Amino acid sequence: MEKLLALEMVRVTEAAAIASARYMGKGARPEADLAATEAMRATMDETDLAGTIVIGEGERDEAPMLYIGEQVGPPQGRAVASVDIAVDPLEGTNLVATGQGGALTVLAASEQGGLTNAPDTYLEKLAVGPIAAGCVDITVSPAENCHRIAEALRRKVTDITVIILDRPRHEALIAEVRGTGARIKLISDGDVSAAISCAVQGTGMHALMGIGGAPEGVLSAAALRCLGGEIQARFRFRNDDERARAEKMLGHADESRVFHTEDLAGGEQLVFAATGVTSGELLQGVRFFGGGARTHSLVMAYQSKQVRFVDTVHMFDRDRPPAVRL
Ligand code: FBP
Repeated sequence: MEKLLALEMVRVTEAAAIASARYMGKGARPEADLAATEAMRATMDETDLAGTIVIGEGERDEAPMLYIGEQVGPPQGRAVASVDIAVDPLEGTNLVATGQGGALTVLAASEQGGLTNAPDTYLEKLAVGPIAAGCVDITVSPAENCHRIAEALRRKVTDITVIILDRPRHEALIAEVRGTGARIKLISDGDVSAAISCAVQGTGMHALMGIGGAPEGVLSAAALRCLGGEIQARFRFRNDDERARAEKMLGHADESRVFHTEDLAGGEQLVFAATGVTSGELLQGVRFFGGGARTHSLVMAYQSKQVRFVDTVHMFDRDRPPAVRL
């Protein structure tokens, strides 16, 4: 099932990326998001997998499609398997609206129960790649974690780079990491791509620290699990409504509880797919040409231990050459 899942899922993220990339630089946040969501939803119905959305665009009454609990895929009887699906149709909506790099369309799928049904609240995150996995602890100070990561990577702390979302809430965190001498990459958006880059050698990134979206945390966990990296996380609630929502969805609203990679994305038949919308460190964005487009995706399957970078030429019009080139 995992192999079929991987191929079906990348078709879905590709379609969403092509649709939303049309809005690059147009300042149209809702339109870009809607285009990705509609394309993702429509392509899911063309797959052979019946899915239940566990992380999506919101609750049934607040999202027109890809809402939590929505059933997607072919009609009953035609599906070859049933899966749980977590989506972020457009991760980095602002990046697309302003024409900046690093926006992705993202999806994770697994057998039922393999992805945490996280409420749309904040999550404090600490993500590292395979070499530093097992060496960090979100309950100790960020400075101590910087030193542990440097030691695991056999580098000086001044030679590691930590990614942090550029937000006022991270003022103290940034000061503390700077105090260790570690380098920092401040990003305006897109912490899923940031988390993945820590587990991909050659990006020059070694850790992600700070508070971002909880749904993005589950998606990052799915990717890091496939890559052998690690994420540790704690929920952070902004108000009583979020606390109540967490109690309903998780059975508790305990901000001290640490969630590990497997707690967030523990499925065995786990698949992660992402397609670049605008070019970033990890993936190239959608490139349009006369009669088609080219996409760049990352597709990973946990059990089959496969990480694929997929370069696809989509021919909208076969009669208009040149469609394919190296
Ligand atoms: P969306 O584009 O899906 O809205 O998310 C972008 C993002 O930067 C995430 O990568 C991150 O987890 C979250 O927003 C941070 O939230 P906030 O902007 O409220 O700090």
